[in-house]
This record gives sequence, structure tokens and C-alpha cells, in this order.
Amino acid sequence: MIAVLPSGQQVAASNRAFLRRAVRYIITQGITQFLDLGSGIPTVGNVHEVAQNADPGCRVVYVDYDEVAVAHSHVILEDNPNATVITADLRRPQAVLTSPAVQTMLDFSRPIGLLIVAVFHFVPDDLRPRDIVADYRAALPPGSLLALSHLTADHAPQAMAAVTDAMKHSRDPMYFRPHAEVVALFDGLELVEPGVVSAPLWRPESGIRDIAPDDVYAGVGRKT
Ligand SMILES: C[S@@+](CC[C@H](N)C(=O)[O-])C[C@H]1O[C@@H](n2cnc3c(N)ncnc32)[C@H](O)[C@@H]1O
Repeated sequence: MIAVLPSGQQVAASNRAFLRRAVRYIITQGITQFLDLGSGIPTVGNVHEVAQNADPGCRVVYVDYDEVAVAHSHVILEDNPNATVITADLRRPQAVLTSPAVQTMLDFSRPIGLLIVAVFHFVPDDLRPRDIVADYRAALPPGSLLALSHLTADHAPQAMAAVTDAMKHSRDPMYFRPHAEVVALFDGLELVEPGVVSAPLWRPESGIRDIAPDDVYAGVGRKT
């Protein structure tokens, strides 16, 4: 990917920075439990670290279907009673939601922070990504928040077409979506300010003003 999209590392970093800001925002809204779908290989500033740094009682369930990501997460979470990881396919919401780890770690009578960060661009239209989000949304109690980011080809169509091409024959082909389709993933939720924007512009903490459009859209929505 980086061979065809030299800004790929920057895009990944700005996505992770959004993830950290979103987790901190969610905590300011009184939420202390997280379900992180497509959590990935642990890196700097993982969700449980950011969350438990703010409130040691925060609970986190990570979900991924990649054995390497899950194995690394198991090692990191070994001594953490409030965080766990499961191997599951996020495209099967009922299997995720009814898994014993999710049922024991999360309390569905209290708001939950659902994280779908940099992963739905692996879900093709024929698997109906909006319906998948809707199934998760239906299970969440009011007051829950969804933080979602998604790669787009809106700003750099040629470079992103090269990425699509490079990923076509991998296990995880990619499907970039325009702004309106990313916004539609928040159907049934109330978008918090500033809506769905380029990731660095979502509640920047360092007063960023003039920044080039990023290849990842990000937003947070509330279930009312
Ligand atoms: C680009 S990484 C994003 C990681 C993390 N959410 C972040 O933003 O840094 C995408 C992750 O989603 C996982 N993934 C992709 N499709 C998935 C699926 N259907 N079910 C579970 N995990 C999936 C991949 O294995 C990978 O670890």
C-alpha cells in the first residue's frame, strides 16, 4: 500500500490519532465500556491504554479475525482483567454480540462506546454495511456512541485506485466510499459536532487550521 500511496503512514497515524481523541471524548460523555470492532495489531496508544489511563475501571472488548492481531492482543492483555480480545468476524453482529466475552465484559443496560475504526472499507456493498451497523446500533442502549472512520478516494482518486488495485488479490480487498456513504453509516444516530470530516479535523486538540484533506473520514454519532 505504501508503495502506491506514500502518504499511507501519515493516513494511518492520523486515523490512530482520531481513535485516541474519540475514546477520550467518549469517556467525557460518561461512557466507560468499549467494543472495538476490527481492532488490529496493537500499536501506540491502544484503546484500553487511553481509556484506562482516564479511568482504570474502563472495560474493553477487542474484536478481530486476524490471528496475528488477536495473538498480539492476548499477550498485551494478559494481566488486564478489564480488557479482552475475541476472534470473530464483525460482519456477523449476532455472533459478536452474543459471544461470552462480550456478554460478561460489557453491561448492555449502560451506554457503550462502539468503535468501527478504519475497518468498514473492507466490507463490500453486497454485504450491506449499513445493515451491519444497524444490527450493532439496535443492541446498544440509548446514550451509546459510535466512533467510525473510513478511507475515501474523494481527495486522491488516482492514488486510491492504485491502492484498491494493490489490495484486490489480498485477503482484504478494499472499498473506499464517498462522504455521503460514510455519513449514511451513521443512519439512526445523531452526529456530534463537527459531523463526518477528514480525520485531523475531528475535534483537533492542537488547534489545527489549514490542513490538506485527508484520505480518511471520521465521525462520532450518538444513539438517542
Ligand atoms: C486497518 S486495521 C484497523 C485497526 C484499528 N481499528 C485502527 O484503526 O488502528 C483493520 C483491522 O480490521 C480487521 N478486520 C478486517 N475485516 C474484519 C472482519 N470482517 N472482522 C473482524 N476484523 C476484521 C483486520 O484484520 C485488521 O486488523
